[in-house]
Amino acid sequence: FNGQTKRVHQPNMMSIAHRGASGFAPENTRSAFQKGVELQADYLECDVHLSKDGELIIMHDDNIDRTTDGNGFIKDYTLAELRQFDAGITFSEEFQGESIMTLNELLDEFFDKIGLLIELKNPANYPGIEESIVSLLRNYEDLSSIIVQSFDVESMKKMHSLLPELEVAVLVRPAESLLSEKKLDELTSFASYVNFNVSFINKRMVNKVQQRGSKVLVWSKNDKKLVSKAHKYGVDGIISDYPTWRIDKPIYL
Ligand code: G3P
Ligand code: CA
Repeated sequence: FNGQTKRVHQPNMMSIAHRGASGFAPENTRSAFQKGVELQADYLECDVHLSKDGELIIMHDDNIDRTTDGNGFIKDYTLAELRQFDAGITFSEEFQGESIMTLNELLDEFFDKIGLLIELKNPANYPGIEESIVSLLRNYEDLSSIIVQSFDVESMKKMHSLLPELEVAVLVRPAESLLSEKKLDELTSFASYVNFNVSFINKRMVNKVQQRGSKVLVWSKNDKKLVSKAHKYGVDGIISDYPTWRIDKPIYL
């Protein structure tokens, strides 16, 4: 502490494990989610698609090529077929045998332990996915530890109207990050969170969302400055592959 740097204490800033703690274990798998809990994250982020037989499948891409030993689109496989693929081996041999998870399983195993930030990936490709999510979430009395997010604004408006007590978030595409006053009014009228890639925003944009009563979460693709920028901008939470900052060394700006 030399007078030019300042130690930051923002205990209220949320730590969100991106696709689970995906820097340490295969993304969107049970191991990555367990690691997120171990690292004391507040939320696990995950991505959801629909299988051929209408099951809610946790995976980032709409196909299984990058993260499993198989190939093809999720929508063309049943859950039983998807179970045959290995979702750990492409990360490292240590995780060989890891199974693809469903959202039902994630809720079963983690709802009581940690918050869940559930992203609907291209929901327009999966008619009825919002209703499926709502019917699953209705099994849980208290939804205060769940947030559903998407880049698809209409889908999030629909989620909000189907289940008003559920918090929804809009993800903003990097190229569209400097939102107009009109767009900010529209999004914050129903979204509890407006979430950005940290490399494309500034403190002013964060303030504008927060002044309207919504919160801001930020993510970044391999940006080593994610945590310090997030603190400088005063965001409400950080979505990171390496959610260690809270239990790691103190943060200096
Ligand atoms: O939660 C933000 C982030 O997950 C959005 O980008 O591509 O990792 O789903 P992506
Ligand atoms: Ca995501």
